[in-house]
Amino acid sequence: MNRTVVLEHVYKEINGREILKDITFDVKEGEIFSIIGRSGSGKTSITKLIVGLWKPTKGKVVVFGKEIPKISKTELEEVRKQIGYVFQEGALFDSYKVWENVVFYYLEKENRPKDELMDLALEKLRMVNLDERVLDLYPSDLSGGMRKRVAIARALATEPKLVIYDEPTSGLDPITSRRIDELVVELRGKTGSTALIVTHDMISAFTISDRVLVIREGKIRAIGKPEEVIKNPDPYIQSFVGDIKDCLKTLHI
Ligand SMILES: Nc1ncnc2c1ncn2[C@@H]1O[C@H](COP(=O)(O)OP(=O)(O)OP(=O)(O)O)[C@@H](O)[C@H]1O
Ligand SMILES: [Mg+2]
Repeated sequence: MNRTVVLEHVYKEINGREILKDITFDVKEGEIFSIIGRSGSGKTSITKLIVGLWKPTKGKVVVFGKEIPKISKTELEEVRKQIGYVFQEGALFDSYKVWENVVFYYLEKENRPKDELMDLALEKLRMVNLDERVLDLYPSDLSGGMRKRVAIARALATEPKLVIYDEPTSGLDPITSRRIDELVVELRGKTGSTALIVTHDMISAFTISDRVLVIREGKIRAIGKPEEVIKNPDPYIQSFVGDIKDCLKTLHI
């Protein structure tokens, strides 16, 4: 099976502090892979290395077979075009309409007719179960769950092979969170893309992921299938998963 993302013995130091230590894992093509860990553990930092915003201090970061810190700017642009990034809090542009947010990449980079872009925006919005009624609205007119959907639609606009979701369910109520989870799984099925999820939401990570990685203070504490990680005897992992074990039992996991 092809590996979409590979990190090998990656270290990252900022201002003399090591925030990632000896990180090794891979994400396979078509997989739903979640990184979980407490605030400040290094989750978002890993995604910054993957999209080439940061260079590792030591170690290898390979995405779509290309070693990210070594490729040219043009090659990095090509790689980034194949990655959809759903930012924490959605990060929509408040002064742009929903459809403009969705096709923002094309508005910025290419000179395509408005009709064509609106059609493309609608196609992507339908994928996240929204419709033409939202096209001309502004982000402030939408609920939190709808904003997340729009952010996901925007990430899908360039038909990425890899979608990175940073806290896709944060700030949402439990029911809306589960709907977003279902959507992530549905989109993986529809597009065949790989999903890398960064989350605090343990229920989400353990119910939808093929594999999960638990990170603590920049170090990997556990990695594996949800059912393996949940049985990991490491006291830290047990304290981490303890709260959700009962909940997962009712979901038959
Ligand atoms: N630009 C930066 N300069 C200095 N330190 C940073 C920078 N970005 C992150 N850090 C530090 O690196 C560590 C990991 O940060 P990171 O954002 O990866 O955590 P996280 O797991 O995503 O946390 P959260 O769940 O709160 O989003 C933190 O201690 C943070 O203070
Ligand atoms: Mg973060």
